[in-house]
Amino acid sequence: MKYRAAVLTVSDRGYAGQRPDESGPQLEKDLAASGLGFTVVARRVVPDERERIAAALTAWADEGISLILTTGGTGFSPRDVTPEATTAVIERPAPGFTEAMRQESRKITPHAMISRAVAGIRRGSLIINLPGSVKAARECLAVVLPALPHALDKLAGDPTDCGRG
Ligand code: MTE
Repeated sequence: MKYRAAVLTVSDRGYAGQRPDESGPQLEKDLAASGLGFTVVARRVVPDERERIAAALTAWADEGISLILTTGGTGFSPRDVTPEATTAVIERPAPGFTEAMRQESRKITPHAMISRAVAGIRRGSLIINLPGSVKAARECLAVVLPALPHALDKLAGDPTDCGRG
């Protein structure tokens, strides 16, 4: 296990048990199947509430989890506050990940523009918002996956020169 990861599903209905959480387990499978060395060590479902989201992200970052993915709550519905909760806890933004997600996702659907997902660094953790549907979450994870090992190695203090592969 090279990288410890955690997945936070943000969904009022998922939290209330009115809808099964499909995206969280699927993202865990996709990370494991990537062959890049990810092990999902924690998964949770929280409602679309800023404080609950921020608390989960902060706790995982404090535990030293390398990669924290969220799924859901990035759109325009009145309850969608995942980007605001994430912005409140990150110390350094990492917009390249969400720029790439939206750019590639627009080739699939114009609705990609509706995701307000953000990404950033808190301590030694990279936090990336993904949209909520299984389809959208998987598509966006696939976009960012190839850059994650190098990003996480650098975040962990890898001093080697970039640009060698
Ligand atoms: N991105 C990809 N790659 N594929 C998708 O199907 N759906 C969009 C968008 N991003 C989509 C996507 C839609 S319809 C919405 S409303 C937003 O993500 C926000 O989703 P969320 O509120 O579930 O986070």
